[in-house]
Amino acid sequence: MNISDEIKAVRFFNNLHEKQLSLKKQKGKVLNYTANLCRHYYKSEALIKKALKKPSKLHYEVIGMIRLGCYLIEEDPQNTPKIIHHMVECIKPHHKWATSIVNGTLRNIVRNKDQWSQDMALSDKYNVPSWLFEKIAHHYPLHFEDIFNQWNQPPLHSARVRPHVNRDKLLSSWIKNGVKAHAHPHRNDMICIRSGAINELPGYQEGDFYIQNASALDLLEKVTLSEKALILDACAAPGGKSIFMADRWPKASITALDIDNKRIQKMNENLERTKLSIPIHCVDATETKDLLTNNYYDVVIVDAPCSATGVITKHPEIKLLRKEEDLKKVTEIQLKILKELWPKLKKGAQLVYLVCSILPEEGEEVIKKLGKSNNFTLEFSKTYLPSSYYHGFYGCIIKKPTHH
Ligand SMILES: C[S@@+](CC[C@H](N)C(=O)[O-])C[C@H]1O[C@@H](n2cnc3c(N)ncnc32)[C@H](O)[C@@H]1O
Repeated sequence: MNISDEIKAVRFFNNLHEKQLSLKKQKGKVLNYTANLCRHYYKSEALIKKALKKPSKLHYEVIGMIRLGCYLIEEDPQNTPKIIHHMVECIKPHHKWATSIVNGTLRNIVRNKDQWSQDMALSDKYNVPSWLFEKIAHHYPLHFEDIFNQWNQPPLHSARVRPHVNRDKLLSSWIKNGVKAHAHPHRNDMICIRSGAINELPGYQEGDFYIQNASALDLLEKVTLSEKALILDACAAPGGKSIFMADRWPKASITALDIDNKRIQKMNENLERTKLSIPIHCVDATETKDLLTNNYYDVVIVDAPCSATGVITKHPEIKLLRKEEDLKKVTEIQLKILKELWPKLKKGAQLVYLVCSILPEEGEEVIKKLGKSNNFTLEFSKTYLPSSYYHGFYGCIIKKPTHH
């Protein structure tokens, strides 16, 4: 039987939930459907609960098809009858008994949506879990709506063009090949692309560009570095920051660490493709033992593991997978990594701390805690909220005193 993209997406969405997968494993229409099942999950779930007495009794593929229908109708209300018919046709080969349920439930939702939406919890309306809604609304009372709306947009992908390649020539060649791309409005080394599959574009295998967001690059460029600086990238895989630093400061010497062997493998592939040589050690940065020398590095970069709330536009599955309890554990690791690596920094040198999260618990509060037992100057500190061209993240630069 030919399996439709719709049913593939519904199945993948279910696995995503159960097996903590990443959306990265899908492509094309299936990826688009699955991403939107995640983006619109909370609102469609609230509508389905109103429309059906016991949704949990139904097969997940039936509920999934109704959810997908909810999203497609919201996106294209003028085609409602066509979409409902299509959802029914998609479920028929798998659960013939459920065609009238899919049809009836979607019609019921369409009829009552406006009324039901009025009584809906705000967190459902904005499509976020309630714990995350509370946190974001608390920390960003003036911006929370913009943040949630940004999370529900399809992401804009971006590529950093490497120094040996002319950005405008590469961009023209992509446009000639029918790629919908444009120059990054704030960086003359980047190209933005609406559709996915950047890694299939000409120049990828040759290492002409690296797929990354502009967000952290502006911060890394604020670091004061001598030409032959010794750089430690403590949470380095799959290599975005290390490769950027190597391109920007080609004579610098970079040492990279990461705890995850699979991600290190990916970093080695990226290094091979970009023709760079950076030693990478598989090590826990909270416990580096005698691998690193004290007072040695001119800059230490800690791109720490985090809740990833800054990149929900690109990874909407994070809204479903992340739990409030995860925060405590991850903030402990962030602080432990910083405490472990602080002594490795030379006197008067800078440490760059970044997390792709916009929760202050993982950003400025971690730095405040570090400050309780270590002396430093906070040279720069900022939370960047997600926007069309930048992921959300927190970044700071702290400087070790020259004298004790
Ligand atoms: C945000 S990602 C780093 C992305 C990378 N800097 C880049 O630009 O491509 C965080 C990384 O921290 C690593 N990590 C998590 N816990 C760690 C630990 N205790 N020690 C070292 N690395 C760790 C993860 O495996 C992950 O690769």
